[in-house]
Amino acid sequence: MPDLDGRRFLVQRAQGPYVWDDHGRRYVDTALGFGATFLGHSAPEVIEATKAALERGSMPAYAHALEEEAAASLAAHTGDLSKVIFVNSGSEAVHLACRLARAVTGRGRIAKMAAGYDGWFDDVAFGNAGSREAEMRTNARPVKNETMLLRFNDFGDVDLMFNECDDIAAVILEPMMANAGCILAAEGYLAHVAAVARRHGAIVIMDEVLMGFRLHPGLASHHLGVRPDLATVGKAIGNGIAVAALIGTPEVMAAFEDQRVNRAGTYNGNPVACAAVKSSMALVDKVDYAAIAARGETLRADVVKGFAEQGIETCTSGYGTVFTLWRGPRAPANYKEAAAIVDPVFTVDLHLELRRAGVMSMATTYGRYYLSASHDREALDLCAGAFRQAAGRMATNSRRD
Ligand SMILES: Cc1ncc(COP(=O)(O)O)c(C=O)c1O
Repeated sequence: MPDLDGRRFLVQRAQGPYVWDDHGRRYVDTALGFGATFLGHSAPEVIEATKAALERGSMPAYAHALEEEAAASLAAHTGDLSKVIFVNSGSEAVHLACRLARAVTGRGRIAKMAAGYDGWFDDVAFGNAGSREAEMRTNARPVKNETMLLRFNDFGDVDLMFNECDDIAAVILEPMMANAGCILAAEGYLAHVAAVARRHGAIVIMDEVLMGFRLHPGLASHHLGVRPDLATVGKAIGNGIAVAALIGTPEVMAAFEDQRVNRAGTYNGNPVACAAVKSSMALVDKVDYAAIAARGETLRADVVKGFAEQGIETCTSGYGTVFTLWRGPRAPANYKEAAAIVDPVFTVDLHLELRRAGVMSMATTYGRYYLSASHDREALDLCAGAFRQAAGRMATNSRRD
Protein backbone atom coordinates (compact mmCIF):
# COMPACT_ATOMS: atom_id res chain seq x y z
CA MET A 1 0.00 0.00 0.00
CA PRO A 2 1.46 3.42 -0.93
CA ASP A 3 2.38 6.04 1.67
CA LEU A 4 0.17 9.11 1.97
CA ASP A 5 2.14 12.33 2.54
CA GLY A 6 5.06 10.16 3.69
CA ARG A 7 2.94 8.18 6.16
CA ARG A 8 2.28 4.45 6.14
CA PHE A 9 -1.16 3.14 6.90
CA LEU A 10 -1.17 0.80 9.88
CA VAL A 11 -4.49 -0.50 11.02
CA GLN A 12 -5.10 -0.59 14.75
CA ARG A 13 -8.59 -2.03 14.99
CA ALA A 14 -11.72 -2.68 12.97
CA GLN A 15 -15.40 -2.67 13.91
CA GLY A 16 -18.50 -2.76 11.74
CA PRO A 17 -17.93 -0.71 8.56
CA TYR A 18 -14.91 1.14 10.04
CA VAL A 19 -11.17 0.70 10.56
CA TRP A 20 -8.96 2.89 12.75
CA ASP A 21 -5.31 3.68 12.03
CA ASP A 22 -2.49 3.78 14.57
CA HIS A 23 -3.19 7.47 15.18
CA GLY A 24 -6.78 6.72 16.13
CA ARG A 25 -8.31 8.13 12.93
CA ARG A 26 -11.47 6.37 11.79
CA TYR A 27 -12.09 5.41 8.13
CA VAL A 28 -15.01 3.79 6.34
CA ASP A 29 -13.58 0.51 5.06
CA THR A 30 -14.26 -0.85 1.58
CA ALA A 31 -11.63 -3.61 1.60
CA LEU A 32 -13.34 -5.58 4.39
CA GLY A 33 -10.62 -8.18 4.88
CA PHE A 34 -10.48 -8.75 1.08
CA GLY A 35 -14.23 -9.26 1.21
CA ALA A 36 -14.19 -11.63 4.18
CA THR A 37 -16.09 -9.57 6.73
CA PHE A 38 -19.40 -9.46 4.89
CA LEU A 39 -21.31 -8.91 8.14
CA GLY A 40 -18.97 -6.08 9.12
CA HIS A 41 -15.72 -6.24 11.09
CA SER A 42 -15.78 -8.02 14.44
CA ALA A 43 -19.47 -8.97 14.35
CA PRO A 44 -20.21 -9.40 18.09
CA GLU A 45 -22.07 -12.73 17.71
CA VAL A 46 -19.18 -14.24 15.73
CA ILE A 47 -16.63 -12.96 18.24
CA GLU A 48 -18.64 -14.40 21.17
CA ALA A 49 -19.06 -17.79 19.47
CA THR A 50 -15.39 -18.10 18.51
CA LYS A 51 -14.22 -16.98 21.98
CA ALA A 52 -16.39 -19.63 23.58
CA ALA A 53 -15.01 -22.30 21.20
CA LEU A 54 -11.44 -21.25 21.98
CA GLU A 55 -12.07 -21.49 25.70
CA ARG A 56 -13.51 -25.00 25.32
CA GLY A 57 -10.34 -26.25 23.57
CA SER A 58 -9.25 -25.25 20.10
CA MET A 59 -7.81 -28.60 18.92
CA PRO A 60 -9.64 -31.67 20.17
CA ALA A 61 -8.51 -34.02 17.32
CA TYR A 62 -11.73 -36.00 17.83
CA ALA A 63 -14.99 -35.55 16.04
CA HIS A 64 -16.95 -32.72 17.63
CA ALA A 65 -20.57 -31.68 17.47
CA LEU A 66 -19.76 -28.13 16.36
CA GLU A 67 -18.23 -29.42 13.11
CA GLU A 68 -21.43 -31.24 12.24
CA GLU A 69 -23.55 -28.26 13.23
CA ALA A 70 -21.41 -25.88 11.16
CA ALA A 71 -21.54 -28.20 8.14
CA ALA A 72 -25.32 -28.55 8.49
CA SER A 73 -25.81 -24.79 8.81
CA LEU A 74 -23.68 -24.17 5.70
CA ALA A 75 -25.34 -26.96 3.70
CA ALA A 76 -28.77 -25.58 4.62
CA HIS A 77 -27.88 -22.68 2.30
CA THR A 78 -26.37 -24.55 -0.65
CA GLY A 79 -29.14 -26.75 -2.07
CA ASP A 80 -28.02 -30.00 -3.67
CA LEU A 81 -24.39 -29.28 -2.75
CA SER A 82 -25.09 -30.91 0.57
CA LYS A 83 -21.71 -32.40 1.52
CA VAL A 84 -19.17 -30.14 3.20
CA ILE A 85 -15.46 -30.39 3.92
CA PHE A 86 -13.88 -27.58 5.90
CA VAL A 87 -10.38 -26.32 5.17
CA ASN A 88 -8.53 -23.18 6.21
CA SER A 89 -8.30 -21.04 3.09
CA GLY A 90 -9.95 -20.58 -0.27
CA SER A 91 -6.79 -21.76 -2.03
CA GLU A 92 -6.96 -25.09 -0.18
CA ALA A 93 -10.62 -25.51 -1.07
CA VAL A 94 -9.83 -24.98 -4.76
CA HIS A 95 -6.89 -27.38 -4.56
CA LEU A 96 -9.08 -30.04 -3.01
CA ALA A 97 -11.77 -29.47 -5.64
CA CYS A 98 -9.24 -30.00 -8.45
CA ARG A 99 -7.90 -33.16 -6.80
CA LEU A 100 -11.40 -34.52 -6.35
CA ALA A 101 -12.36 -33.77 -9.95
CA ARG A 102 -9.30 -35.65 -11.20
CA ALA A 103 -10.03 -38.65 -9.00
CA VAL A 104 -13.67 -38.80 -10.06
CA THR A 105 -13.09 -38.36 -13.81
CA GLY A 106 -9.73 -40.11 -14.14
CA ARG A 107 -8.56 -37.12 -16.22
CA GLY A 108 -5.66 -34.72 -15.69
CA ARG A 109 -6.41 -31.24 -16.98
CA ILE A 110 -8.01 -28.30 -15.14
CA ALA A 111 -9.45 -25.49 -17.27
CA LYS A 112 -9.56 -22.06 -15.67
CA MET A 113 -10.58 -18.65 -16.88
CA ALA A 114 -7.85 -16.44 -18.29
CA ALA A 115 -7.48 -13.53 -15.81
CA GLY A 116 -9.49 -15.38 -13.17
CA TYR A 117 -8.06 -15.76 -9.68
CA ASP A 118 -8.64 -19.03 -7.89
CA GLY A 119 -5.94 -18.92 -5.24
CA TRP A 120 -2.23 -19.58 -5.12
CA PHE A 121 -1.80 -23.35 -5.52
CA ASP A 122 0.16 -24.39 -8.61
CA ASP A 123 -2.83 -25.86 -10.46
CA VAL A 124 -4.52 -22.50 -10.80
CA ALA A 125 -1.76 -19.93 -10.19
CA PHE A 126 -1.43 -19.36 -13.91
CA GLY A 127 -2.90 -16.82 -16.29
CA ASN A 128 -3.96 -14.39 -13.58
CA ALA A 129 -5.00 -10.82 -14.46
CA GLY A 130 -1.97 -8.79 -15.49
CA SER A 131 -0.03 -11.80 -16.80
CA ARG A 132 0.90 -12.19 -20.47
CA GLU A 133 -0.96 -15.51 -20.73
CA ALA A 134 -4.22 -13.96 -19.52
CA GLU A 135 -4.39 -11.84 -22.67
CA MET A 136 -4.68 -14.98 -24.89
CA ARG A 137 -3.56 -12.94 -27.88
CA THR A 138 -2.86 -15.87 -30.22
CA ASN A 139 -4.84 -18.96 -31.19
CA ALA A 140 -2.45 -21.18 -29.22
CA ARG A 141 -4.21 -21.91 -25.94
CA PRO A 142 -1.99 -21.16 -22.90
CA VAL A 143 -1.18 -24.38 -21.03
CA LYS A 144 1.12 -24.86 -18.06
CA ASN A 145 1.60 -28.33 -16.65
CA GLU A 146 -1.99 -29.57 -16.27
CA THR A 147 -3.72 -26.17 -16.39
CA MET A 148 -5.24 -24.63 -19.51
CA LEU A 149 -6.95 -21.29 -19.98
CA LEU A 150 -10.17 -20.24 -21.67
CA ARG A 151 -11.65 -16.82 -22.33
CA PHE A 152 -14.32 -15.66 -19.90
CA ASN A 153 -17.57 -14.67 -21.65
CA ASP A 154 -16.47 -16.19 -24.98
CA PHE A 155 -19.17 -18.79 -25.69
CA GLY A 156 -17.36 -20.32 -28.67
CA ASP A 157 -14.10 -20.79 -26.79
CA VAL A 158 -15.68 -23.31 -24.41
CA ASP A 159 -16.69 -25.67 -27.23
CA LEU A 160 -13.36 -25.12 -28.95
CA MET A 161 -11.42 -26.05 -25.84
CA PHE A 162 -13.35 -29.26 -25.21
CA ASN A 163 -12.95 -30.23 -28.86
CA GLU A 164 -9.18 -29.67 -28.60
CA CYS A 165 -8.73 -31.76 -25.45
CA ASP A 166 -10.46 -34.86 -24.09
CA ASP A 167 -8.52 -34.92 -20.81
CA ILE A 168 -10.29 -32.08 -18.97
CA ALA A 169 -11.29 -33.12 -15.45
CA ALA A 170 -12.94 -29.83 -14.50
CA VAL A 171 -13.67 -26.26 -15.44
CA ILE A 172 -13.31 -23.80 -12.59
CA LEU A 173 -14.88 -20.36 -12.80
CA GLU A 174 -16.23 -17.52 -10.69
CA PRO A 175 -19.86 -16.35 -11.01
CA MET A 176 -18.39 -12.91 -11.75
CA MET A 177 -14.73 -12.40 -12.62
CA ALA A 178 -14.21 -10.29 -9.52
CA ASN A 179 -10.44 -10.26 -9.35
CA ALA A 180 -10.14 -8.85 -12.89
CA GLY A 181 -12.42 -5.90 -12.12
CA CYS A 182 -15.88 -7.33 -11.40
CA ILE A 183 -16.57 -8.44 -14.98
CA LEU A 184 -20.14 -9.75 -15.02
CA ALA A 185 -20.91 -13.05 -16.69
CA ALA A 186 -22.80 -12.46 -19.94
CA GLU A 187 -26.42 -13.60 -20.00
CA GLY A 188 -26.42 -17.40 -20.29
CA TYR A 189 -22.64 -17.76 -20.16
CA LEU A 190 -22.32 -19.62 -16.85
CA ALA A 191 -25.05 -22.06 -17.87
CA HIS A 192 -23.36 -22.55 -21.25
CA VAL A 193 -20.00 -23.42 -19.64
CA ALA A 194 -21.73 -25.86 -17.27
CA ALA A 195 -23.69 -27.52 -20.09
CA VAL A 196 -20.68 -27.94 -22.39
CA ALA A 197 -18.49 -29.22 -19.55
CA ARG A 198 -21.12 -31.81 -18.56
CA ARG A 199 -21.62 -32.89 -22.15
CA HIS A 200 -17.90 -33.68 -22.24
CA GLY A 201 -17.91 -35.48 -18.89
CA ALA A 202 -16.08 -32.77 -16.91
CA ILE A 203 -16.89 -31.49 -13.42
CA VAL A 204 -18.13 -27.91 -12.99
CA ILE A 205 -16.45 -26.11 -10.07
CA MET A 206 -17.82 -22.72 -9.10
CA ASP A 207 -15.22 -20.77 -7.22
CA GLU A 208 -17.38 -18.79 -4.82
CA VAL A 209 -14.67 -17.95 -2.30
CA LEU A 210 -15.34 -14.29 -3.02
CA MET A 211 -18.95 -14.24 -4.27
CA GLY A 212 -20.55 -16.85 -2.03
CA PHE A 213 -23.10 -15.25 0.38
CA ARG A 214 -22.53 -11.81 -1.18
CA LEU A 215 -25.67 -11.66 -3.34
CA HIS A 216 -28.02 -13.69 -1.16
CA PRO A 217 -27.66 -16.15 1.75
CA GLY A 218 -26.18 -18.89 -0.44
CA LEU A 219 -24.23 -19.42 -3.64
CA ALA A 220 -24.14 -16.66 -6.24
CA SER A 221 -24.30 -19.31 -8.97
CA HIS A 222 -27.60 -20.64 -7.60
CA HIS A 223 -28.87 -17.06 -7.46
CA LEU A 224 -27.91 -16.75 -11.14
CA GLY A 225 -29.61 -20.02 -12.05
CA VAL A 226 -26.58 -22.29 -12.46
CA ARG A 227 -25.99 -25.59 -10.68
CA PRO A 228 -22.35 -26.60 -10.28
CA ASP A 229 -21.16 -30.05 -9.13
CA LEU A 230 -18.73 -28.53 -6.66
CA ALA A 231 -18.30 -25.10 -5.14
CA THR A 232 -15.57 -23.54 -3.07
CA VAL A 233 -16.58 -21.03 -0.42
CA GLY A 234 -14.55 -19.03 2.09
CA LYS A 235 -14.35 -15.42 3.25
CA ALA A 236 -18.00 -14.60 4.17
CA ILE A 237 -18.74 -18.06 5.62
CA GLY A 238 -16.58 -17.24 8.66
CA ASN A 239 -16.81 -13.45 8.57
CA GLY A 240 -13.08 -12.92 8.98
CA ILE A 241 -12.08 -16.09 10.85
CA ALA A 242 -9.79 -18.33 8.76
CA VAL A 243 -12.09 -20.96 7.27
CA ALA A 244 -13.16 -22.14 3.83
CA ALA A 245 -14.99 -25.18 2.52
CA LEU A 246 -15.42 -27.45 -0.44
CA ILE A 247 -19.06 -28.32 -0.93
CA GLY A 248 -20.48 -30.74 -3.45
CA THR A 249 -23.13 -33.19 -4.50
CA PRO A 250 -23.13 -36.49 -2.58
CA GLU A 251 -22.26 -38.41 -5.78
CA VAL A 252 -19.07 -36.45 -6.44
CA MET A 253 -18.08 -36.07 -2.78
CA ALA A 254 -18.42 -39.84 -2.24
CA ALA A 255 -14.79 -40.18 -3.36
CA PHE A 256 -13.76 -38.78 0.04
CA GLU A 257 -15.86 -41.25 1.95
CA ASP A 258 -14.52 -44.30 0.13
CA GLN A 259 -10.94 -43.03 0.70
CA ARG A 260 -10.13 -42.45 -2.95
CA VAL A 261 -9.13 -38.88 -2.12
CA ASN A 262 -7.12 -37.71 0.86
CA ARG A 263 -8.41 -34.59 2.58
CA ALA A 264 -6.63 -34.75 5.93
CA GLY A 265 -5.60 -31.49 7.58
CA THR A 266 -4.59 -30.77 11.17
CA TYR A 267 -6.69 -27.63 11.41
CA ASN A 268 -9.54 -28.65 9.11
CA GLY A 269 -12.88 -28.24 10.83
CA ASN A 270 -11.35 -26.89 14.02
CA PRO A 271 -13.84 -25.65 16.63
CA VAL A 272 -13.02 -21.95 16.28
CA ALA A 273 -13.54 -22.05 12.51
CA CYS A 274 -16.73 -24.05 12.92
CA ALA A 275 -18.08 -21.64 15.54
CA ALA A 276 -17.43 -18.80 13.10
CA VAL A 277 -19.32 -20.60 10.32
CA LYS A 278 -22.27 -21.55 12.49
CA SER A 279 -22.69 -18.06 13.91
CA SER A 280 -22.17 -16.39 10.51
CA MET A 281 -24.78 -18.63 8.91
CA ALA A 282 -27.28 -17.68 11.59
CA LEU A 283 -26.55 -14.01 10.87
CA VAL A 284 -26.76 -14.12 7.07
CA ASP A 285 -30.32 -15.39 7.43
CA LYS A 286 -31.22 -12.08 9.07
CA VAL A 287 -29.45 -9.84 6.55
CA ASP A 288 -31.68 -7.69 4.34
CA TYR A 289 -29.77 -8.38 1.11
CA ALA A 290 -32.10 -6.24 -1.00
CA ALA A 291 -31.49 -3.24 1.26
CA ILE A 292 -27.67 -3.49 1.17
CA ALA A 293 -27.71 -4.05 -2.57
CA ALA A 294 -29.88 -0.93 -2.96
CA ARG A 295 -27.52 1.11 -0.74
CA GLY A 296 -24.62 -0.11 -2.89
CA GLU A 297 -26.38 0.83 -6.12
CA THR A 298 -26.99 4.32 -4.73
CA LEU A 299 -23.31 4.62 -3.84
CA ARG A 300 -22.28 3.47 -7.33
CA ALA A 301 -24.50 6.14 -8.88
CA ASP A 302 -23.24 8.82 -6.44
CA VAL A 303 -19.61 8.00 -7.23
CA VAL A 304 -20.13 8.28 -11.00
CA LYS A 305 -22.08 11.53 -10.51
CA GLY A 306 -19.35 12.96 -8.27
CA PHE A 307 -16.72 12.38 -10.97
CA ALA A 308 -19.02 13.64 -13.74
CA GLU A 309 -19.45 16.93 -11.84
CA GLN A 310 -15.67 17.33 -12.11
CA GLY A 311 -15.68 16.53 -15.83
CA ILE A 312 -14.30 13.01 -15.35
CA GLU A 313 -16.27 10.23 -17.03
CA THR A 314 -16.46 7.00 -15.03
CA CYS A 315 -18.65 3.92 -14.77
CA THR A 316 -18.87 0.88 -12.52
CA SER A 317 -19.19 -2.88 -12.96
CA GLY A 318 -20.35 -5.56 -10.55
CA TYR A 319 -23.04 -5.58 -7.89
CA GLY A 320 -24.12 -3.29 -5.07
CA THR A 321 -22.02 -5.18 -2.51
CA VAL A 322 -18.89 -5.52 -4.66
CA PHE A 323 -18.01 -3.31 -7.59
CA THR A 324 -15.14 -1.80 -9.58
CA LEU A 325 -14.84 1.77 -10.81
CA TRP A 326 -13.55 2.38 -14.34
CA ARG A 327 -12.63 5.49 -16.29
CA GLY A 328 -14.71 5.95 -19.41
CA PRO A 329 -18.30 5.46 -20.49
CA ARG A 330 -18.67 1.66 -20.57
CA ALA A 331 -17.69 -1.14 -18.20
CA PRO A 332 -15.69 -3.97 -19.79
CA ALA A 333 -17.55 -7.06 -20.99
CA ASN A 334 -14.43 -9.25 -21.01
CA TYR A 335 -10.82 -9.24 -19.91
CA LYS A 336 -9.50 -7.87 -23.20
CA GLU A 337 -11.63 -4.76 -22.75
CA ALA A 338 -10.72 -4.54 -19.05
CA ALA A 339 -6.98 -4.68 -19.78
CA ALA A 340 -7.43 -1.97 -22.44
CA ILE A 341 -9.11 0.55 -20.13
CA VAL A 342 -7.61 -0.24 -16.72
CA ASP A 343 -5.77 2.76 -15.32
CA PRO A 344 -3.51 1.82 -12.39
CA VAL A 345 -2.39 5.42 -11.83
CA PHE A 346 -6.00 6.55 -11.48
CA THR A 347 -6.65 3.67 -9.03
CA VAL A 348 -3.71 4.57 -6.81
CA ASP A 349 -4.45 8.33 -6.95
CA LEU A 350 -8.04 7.61 -6.00
CA HIS A 351 -6.98 5.30 -3.18
CA LEU A 352 -4.77 8.07 -1.73
CA GLU A 353 -7.41 10.79 -2.09
CA LEU A 354 -10.07 8.55 -0.53
CA ARG A 355 -7.72 7.82 2.35
CA ARG A 356 -7.18 11.55 2.83
CA ALA A 357 -10.97 11.92 2.90
CA GLY A 358 -11.52 9.08 5.38
CA VAL A 359 -12.23 5.99 3.25
CA MET A 360 -9.94 2.96 2.94
CA SER A 361 -9.88 1.02 -0.33
CA MET A 362 -7.81 -1.62 -2.07
CA ALA A 363 -5.00 0.00 -4.06
CA THR A 364 -4.63 -2.93 -6.48
CA THR A 365 -4.80 -2.48 -10.27
CA TYR A 366 -8.13 -4.26 -10.73
CA GLY A 367 -9.31 -3.18 -7.28
CA ARG A 368 -12.87 -3.32 -6.06
CA TYR A 369 -15.05 -1.83 -3.37
CA TYR A 370 -16.88 -4.06 -0.94
CA LEU A 371 -19.86 -3.15 1.19
CA SER A 372 -20.88 -5.13 4.25
CA ALA A 373 -24.23 -5.61 5.91
CA SER A 374 -23.01 -3.12 8.54
CA HIS A 375 -22.52 -0.28 6.04
CA ASP A 376 -25.46 1.82 7.15
CA ARG A 377 -26.65 5.13 5.78
CA GLU A 378 -24.14 7.09 7.87
CA ALA A 379 -21.18 5.04 6.57
CA LEU A 380 -22.48 5.25 3.00
CA ASP A 381 -22.98 9.04 3.21
CA LEU A 382 -19.41 9.40 4.49
CA CYS A 383 -18.26 7.22 1.62
CA ALA A 384 -20.14 9.20 -1.04
CA GLY A 385 -18.79 12.47 0.41
CA ALA A 386 -15.23 11.12 0.36
CA PHE A 387 -15.57 10.10 -3.31
CA ARG A 388 -16.85 13.61 -4.14
CA GLN A 389 -13.92 15.19 -2.33
CA ALA A 390 -11.47 12.80 -4.02
CA ALA A 391 -12.94 13.53 -7.46
CA GLY A 392 -12.58 17.28 -6.84
CA ARG A 393 -8.94 16.99 -5.80
CA MET A 394 -8.10 14.65 -8.66
CA ALA A 395 -9.65 17.06 -11.16
CA THR A 396 -7.70 19.98 -9.67
CA ASN A 397 -4.47 17.97 -9.67
CA SER A 398 -4.90 16.95 -13.32
CA ARG A 399 -5.53 20.59 -14.33
CA ARG A 400 -2.25 21.52 -12.61
CA ASP A 401 -0.24 18.76 -14.40
C1 LIG B 1 -12.31 -16.28 -6.24
C2 LIG B 1 -11.22 -16.64 -5.28
N1 LIG B 1 -10.81 -17.92 -5.19
C3 LIG B 1 -9.85 -18.30 -4.33
C4 LIG B 1 -9.24 -17.39 -3.51
C5 LIG B 1 -8.17 -17.84 -2.57
O1 LIG B 1 -8.61 -17.75 -1.28
P1 LIG B 1 -7.56 -17.58 -0.06
O2 LIG B 1 -6.93 -16.24 -0.23
O3 LIG B 1 -8.42 -17.70 1.15
O4 LIG B 1 -6.57 -18.69 -0.19
C6 LIG B 1 -9.63 -16.04 -3.57
C7 LIG B 1 -9.00 -15.04 -2.70
O5 LIG B 1 -9.20 -13.87 -2.79
C8 LIG B 1 -10.65 -15.66 -4.46
O6 LIG B 1 -11.06 -14.39 -4.57
